[in-house]
Amino acid sequence: MIERVSCGSCHVIPGVDWPRGRAGPSLEGFDDAGLLAGALPNTPANLAAFVRDAPAAKPGSTMPAMPITAAEAQDVAAYLYGMKDE
Ligand code: HEC
Repeated sequence: MIERVSCGSCHVIPGVDWPRGRAGPSLEGFDDAGLLAGALPNTPANLAAFVRDAPAAKPGSTMPAMPITAAEAQDVAAYLYGMKDE
């Protein structure tokens, strides 16, 4: 899923070997960060909303909205928090 929508073209993501993009911040150790994109409380609900439609969740965000469903966004959030594999 994360591969399909190529988050990796902009992010370094644990478990995704290629591509390892540099446009966005690395998502390694992301679950330890206090703030999501430096602006939002780092909670599963906020993360799911952000990865699906970043400009809506954080006005001015340079990350584009992604073509994923709400359920997929929750899977992505769970993956990034290390709670389950993709
Ligand atoms: C076109 C490049 C691009 C793509 C594709 C992209 N991102 Fe991002 N992402 C960014 C940029 C740039 C930022 C920094 C945005 C900001 O700070 O507002 C960011 C920020 C983030 C953050 C917040 C990181 C932090 O340290 O707080 C997360 C989480 C994230 N992206 C996840 C994803 C996921 C998951 C996908 C795939 C569904 C994805 N991104 C696809 C460019 C991208």
